Amino acid sequence: MLILGLESSCDETSAAVVRMENGKRQILSNIVASQIEIHRLYGGVVPEIASRAHIEAISGITYRALDEAGVKLSDIGAVAVTSHPGLIGALIVGVNFAKSLAFANNIPLVAVNHVKAHVAAAYLEYPELEPPFTAMVVSGGHTSIYEISSYTDFKTIGSTRDDAAGEAFDKVARVLGMPYPGGAEFDRVSYGGNPLAVNLPSPALSGDNLDFSFSGIKTAALNYINSAKQRGEEPDVGDLAASYTHAIVKAIVKKASAALDRTGSRTLVLAGGVAANSHIRRELGAMCERRGVRLCVPSLSLCGDNAAMVAAAGFFEYEIGNLASVDLNASANDNM
Ligand code: KG4
Ligand code: ZN
Repeated sequence: MLILGLESSCDETSAAVVRMENGKRQILSNIVASQIEIHRLYGGVVPEIASRAHIEAISGITYRALDEAGVKLSDIGAVAVTSHPGLIGALIVGVNFAKSLAFANNIPLVAVNHVKAHVAAAYLEYPELEPPFTAMVVSGGHTSIYEISSYTDFKTIGSTRDDAAGEAFDKVARVLGMPYPGGAEFDRVSYGGNPLAVNLPSPALSGDNLDFSFSGIKTAALNYINSAKQRGEEPDVGDLAASYTHAIVKAIVKKASAALDRTGSRTLVLAGGVAANSHIRRELGAMCERRGVRLCVPSLSLCGDNAAMVAAAGFFEYEIGNLASVDLNASANDNM
């Protein structure tokens, strides 16, 4: 069956057509219109501007996705839309567009959780992947660990108590003058420094838990920058980026390993925008290899926000009959 996916939870408007049948998972089109250039002027996402940009883009993007896939609306078996969590004004645009399209054309509608969609990107990349497994979602809004028992059942076993890893990277990158969103540039710059040069607190919370806190490391990095400036010196950007990345990656690997101990899973899925980080991919890969666990990480284009992952997650909700109706509402909250 063909699923039309729609995504508008943050600063990417995306539409995709995905074929899901008989174990086959094929992306026919996946158009992503990024608003990054618009928000870069302000150093971060401006919610009101994001909503307006989604309104302007969503219809054109959707018909482009259908064209590129070589299909018509009448071929679509279900419309899947991200309904939560995210920026409420941005989500409302996608949800209302999807509702109108579905009901005007008599197509079933499915509401999708954005975090579940990030994990579903792995099903597109690894067609033979199936639950149960453990998943770690690291993005601009999330740093969470899930025990996944079926395509639709997620149990949260760990999460951040404050900021997400992506926010932590973006904040320090911004103070260092890197353009928004700084995560990818930070990744590149971190190769030019010593990962043990700056002493920073670990974002892995101590004790028998799978939780994180990024506020301490963020503040310590900002203090390092400010003290250098107060001495009339420039902070060593390479050393700071390398040390900051090292501390975050170490915490992620430590908690992922503890999660595998707890769940006994033989497969770990890494997903979300921050899963593009080269150090996290390499170090989690090494940890999984030592343990004989299979690591599944989507390719870079499926790590960031995109509608193909929404379509994939939507298919599994459709399969269990979890359909939405005209009274579907967007929600900023993260109820799984
Ligand atoms: O999943 P995503 O596209 O949006 C949310 O759902 O939040 O994630 C965006 C986040 C941003 O914080 C961005 O800086 C970060 O992913 N990111 C990275 C890298 N590439 C993107 N963070 C670290 N290293 C990267 N290579
Ligand atoms: Zn996302």
